[in-house]
Amino acid sequence: MPLVEVNGVTKAYYTSRRKDWARIVLDDVTLRFEDNEFVCLIGPSGCGKTTLLNLMAGFERPTAGEILYKGEKVTAPSPERGVVFQEYSLFPWMSVLDNVRFALGSKDLPEKDKDNIARRALAMVNLADSADQRPNLLSGGMKQRVAVARLLAMDPDLWLMDEPFSSLDEQTRKKLDSDILNIWRVKRRTIVFVTHSVDEALHLATRIILFSQSPGQVIREWNIPAAMSRDPTTSEMIAIKKEITDAMPACACADVRPIEIRM
Ligand SMILES: Nc1ncnc2c1ncn2[C@@H]1O[C@H](COP(=O)(O)OP(=O)(O)O)[C@@H](O)[C@H]1O
Ligand SMILES: [Mg+2]
Repeated sequence: MPLVEVNGVTKAYYTSRRKDWARIVLDDVTLRFEDNEFVCLIGPSGCGKTTLLNLMAGFERPTAGEILYKGEKVTAPSPERGVVFQEYSLFPWMSVLDNVRFALGSKDLPEKDKDNIARRALAMVNLADSADQRPNLLSGGMKQRVAVARLLAMDPDLWLMDEPFSSLDEQTRKKLDSDILNIWRVKRRTIVFVTHSVDEALHLATRIILFSQSPGQVIREWNIPAAMSRDPTTSEMIAIKKEITDAMPACACADVRPIEIRM
């Protein structure tokens, strides 16, 4: 059984002007995500990538279709499905360590164990020395590392990452990409990672899914076996990059049309 099944999912938001019209954000999307995959979602901004992650996380519900996680319908968020957002989502009044410990709130563990798990997670992202600092003292890259440490501590089966490093400078982003790849290799979890960078997707993914302009539909997928070299100068990687950039739609165009919505 796939870890996640996205079955004919459409998501629409009502427009404020006409009550019976809606903006279609995702249009009949069907996808499967298997255990241990590292899937990158790419596509023009506004095509519904964040919306799809929010649906998979359980923050939102599809307008039509359904999402199954381990065969069960997703109806609410769960600690089995962890999210790293694009913008820093740390509590500014808590120390770095407490931000990570907070993610373990729902787990029935002694405080001492939570402390150990959080410290181990911070060590894995090279932030052991910053445990007692407040987030406002950290650089952007360090804040995103804390967000990654939070997921490491929670240890969800599914990691949903929404352009987690796109606001960082190139060098920091590359370093964090390598770190996330190492973590994925060690932990063998399933990662669904949104990026607008074809190069980042080629570096990370075992599968790349390209979305159309809005309303988001899957245009095409590329499988990149884990064993294949990620060296961007190899003829294989150059060929895949050309295929992706040639297939990439230019911009996201709004699609607003009448829709019958069954809630
Ligand atoms: N809560 C909402 N209400 C209305 N429109 C929304 C809402 N969330 C997202 N949208 C719209 O859905 C479209 C897709 O958004 P999003 O999923 O964020 O795209 P992407 O992540 O691919 O850039 C955008 O046009 C956005 O304005
Ligand atoms: Mg987005």
